Amino acid sequence: MKPHPATKIIHSDYTAPEGFSAFPTAIHHASTVLFDNVAAMRSSDWHDKSLYTYGLHGTPTMRTLEAQLAAIEEGNFCTLAPSGLGAIVLVSLAMLKTGDDVLLPDNVYGMNRELGKWLAHTYAISVRFYEPAIGAAIDALIEDNTRLIWTEAPGSVSMEMPDIPAICQAAHARGVMVAVDNTWSAGIAFKPFSHGVDISMQALTKYQSGGSDVLMGAVITKDAALHERIETVRRVLGMGVGADDVYLILRSLASMPLRFAAHDLHARKIAAWLKSRPEISKVLHPGLPDCPGHALWERDFTGAGGLFSVIFDPKFTEQQTDRFVDSLLLFKIGFSWGGSHSLCLPYRMKFMREKWTENGQLVRFNIGLEDVADLIADIEQALAKMKSES
Ligand SMILES: Cc1ncc(COP(=O)(O)O)c(C=O)c1O
Repeated sequence: MKPHPATKIIHSDYTAPEGFSAFPTAIHHASTVLFDNVAAMRSSDWHDKSLYTYGLHGTPTMRTLEAQLAAIEEGNFCTLAPSGLGAIVLVSLAMLKTGDDVLLPDNVYGMNRELGKWLAHTYAISVRFYEPAIGAAIDALIEDNTRLIWTEAPGSVSMEMPDIPAICQAAHARGVMVAVDNTWSAGIAFKPFSHGVDISMQALTKYQSGGSDVLMGAVITKDAALHERIETVRRVLGMGVGADDVYLILRSLASMPLRFAAHDLHARKIAAWLKSRPEISKVLHPGLPDCPGHALWERDFTGAGGLFSVIFDPKFTEQQTDRFVDSLLLFKIGFSWGGSHSLCLPYRMKFMREKWTENGQLVRFNIGLEDVADLIADIEQALAKMKSES
């Protein structure tokens, strides 16, 4: 029987020492890993992930999490990184060298954009930004030295949904690899490899942690050679993760499918309610009918994350929408998402995008696990405050 990922992340392959039985995976703390004798030390290959050689390169706790994350995304291999951004760095450094070209969507996560600019400046890598809705037309942008196309599904602020199969088809026809920042779907609602993606990246800081308390990232592949390229960069950069943090993610992972479904349900209810509000000119939630990207979402996804944005009616100034955010009581102001607490942030889009044509202010919501009616009441009172003090 091939278990469903939701079953696999509860029933791990971890085996406790003989004479002891309990559900949790043990937390193996180790820098030094002991060998039985010199011959065993000399014959152990640090590249072989089935062996244990040094704490930085893996413990049974880390291997358990890697296997579960690969199972969720229907991949074969996984590398852990100390943050989601660390995972992005692993992908870009593994795939790019001086003289190469990389294409990034114009709505890409801000620090991936900053990394791109740093790679261009420091390593003379050509970094170009494309319109996220480009689809198959990306072919026209692919040059002989293009090695990697990043996608983000959807962009985590402006929420455009890319046509990933079309991008992959165009890329593969020219021998170019495609990576996806798959954090929004948690790997639950979008299966990257069956849509043609080569490398999937997760910020485990979000849904996998679920507690707004751990920073971690992961890179998942189906292909062994690609995985080894990523592992090589991880090894030489000395990127490791702490055993206690890995345990916190393992502990949260079993409930992730249920939490994710609740985030999705709550977010769709609140987004639908916001659609009916006169203060809001657009709701940017690809899972809602009539919202941008819905057709692609419906074709490729089986669910949605709890993160979406709205565009306020242009008659409301930045000062007013900032007052709206400041007036919220349950929604807190802070970066990141995927935890049980709801968050809200305003964004200055003209500073984030090469092309941005919306006139209204953009505000992003991360819907947590609080009661939906309470969250709606909170938004309602903040909208009233925004207008009453105008
Ligand atoms: C879409 C996306 N990718 C990656 C990251 C990076 O994750 P981390 O904060 O773990 O570095 C974030 C963080 O906000 C994000 O929103």
